[in-house]
Amino acid sequence: MKFFIDTANVEAIRRAHERGMVDGVTTNPSLVAKEGRDFRQIVDEIASFVKGPISLEVVSEDAEGMMKEARELNTWIDNAAIKIPMTWEGLKAVRMCADEGIKTNVTLVFSPNQALLAAKAGATFVSPFIGRLDDVGHIGMELVESIVQIYSNYGFDTEVIVASIRHPVHVYEAAMIGAHIATIPPAVLDKMVNHPLTDVGIKRFLADWEKVKKK
Ligand code: E4P
Repeated sequence: MKFFIDTANVEAIRRAHERGMVDGVTTNPSLVAKEGRDFRQIVDEIASFVKGPISLEVVSEDAEGMMKEARELNTWIDNAAIKIPMTWEGLKAVRMCADEGIKTNVTLVFSPNQALLAAKAGATFVSPFIGRLDDVGHIGMELVESIVQIYSNYGFDTEVIVASIRHPVHVYEAAMIGAHIATIPPAVLDKMVNHPLTDVGIKRFLADWEKVKKK
């Protein structure tokens, strides 16, 4: 299972990278806005050490505008995946990107049929938003199950990025389903290593080590 880091905070990505946990990065306009920095500068800094796909989102709403942005963003770095929203205009742009060899990540996916359309349009990645579905009373992870099943039924190459992850259980469930990728916020990744029995175990081993006779 690949781990992408869901943030535009370069220091947080660097920390996860030093821990060997970064196969790629996803950004979106809200995450970039939170940093209060120049977008291009952030992207260049991330790309200086992340070699896996880095998702960069377009903000146009028509296919022509999206393509203009996609072609430009794709020149910034070698490993861009252009994030395109799930609309008919977006799907037209995804098809054009596929024909031009530009990688895409179809974002804001909330139903199995949307994911099916993204795959048929030639998307490299599809991003079902789990946490936002949970927020409105749906079981987000059921969407991931359906998409993984549909893609496997027909042998689609599109990879599933489980997005809008809110806690470590989301990562566990995504892994149990066999999703290709989880895009994980840094705070959730931090929590994944913790277990109270590990802490107690280390303390006990160290205390016992003190009692071992040493020459
Ligand atoms: C990633 O591709 C998404 O933009 C992100 O996971 C959305 O997360 P949120 O629902 O917590 O904003």
